[in-house]
Amino acid sequence: WNIEGAEVVAMDGPSGVGKSTVAKAVAQRLGLAYLDTGSTYRAATRITLSHGIDVCDEEAILAELTAHDIDYGAEGIEVDGVNVATDVRTPEVTANVSAVSAHPRVREHIVAIQRAWAHRHGDAAVLEGRDIGTVVFPDAGVKVYLTARPEVRALRRAGDTEAANSSVDEIAEKLAARDKADSTRAASPLRAADDAEIIDTSDIDIDEVVGLIVDLADR
Ligand code: DC
Repeated sequence: WNIEGAEVVAMDGPSGVGKSTVAKAVAQRLGLAYLDTGSTYRAATRITLSHGIDVCDEEAILAELTAHDIDYGAEGIEVDGVNVATDVRTPEVTANVSAVSAHPRVREHIVAIQRAWAHRHGDAAVLEGRDIGTVVFPDAGVKVYLTARPEVRALRRAGDTEAANSSVDEIAEKLAARDKADSTRAASPLRAADDAEIIDTSDIDIDEVVGLIVDLADR
């Protein structure tokens, strides 16, 4: 299929930069479908954990993944037709998702699911993740990389349900560990594409970020 993706809006960056909120709003403003690709890796992690598979065992993870259907519907991530949006946000999944998503063949499998999803949406959609502009849709028409200062990101994450019982310091520590794992892995590490627009969201509000990206898309 066409993976040129000229009508794809690729939004990458670490967690806590406001990616999901901004990406959803951009999709709505542009009338495009929205895919949270982190949730596809979270679904793979949940499948791995619920079958008692070692997160280091790429072969076993891949074998189990091929026996399941991961998809993204209007209400979010689904495994075998069942919505698992809440189940993929547990601390256990969050603690293990970097390990599962570091395996190159697991990524290949998941990226194929993401591209097939985009294709079903006419290759015109907003995709949010870590490697959309670099690997999944390197020819995306709009590429944005969101960043924010570490303390701002930790404070934002503290407001999420998955972090309900943790202190901001604990969250900051876990964020730093996950960033490190995600950006130093060999396969498709977290990084800004050379041609991505870099937006620091620390001191500007969501509406302004959304406006900037919609302008980019219009151009
Ligand atoms: O966006 P999130 O925090 O839900 O993502 C969960 C994990 O999935 C993240 O720590 C790294 C991985 N991920 C990835 O490797 N590539 C993506 N495109 C999206 C997420």
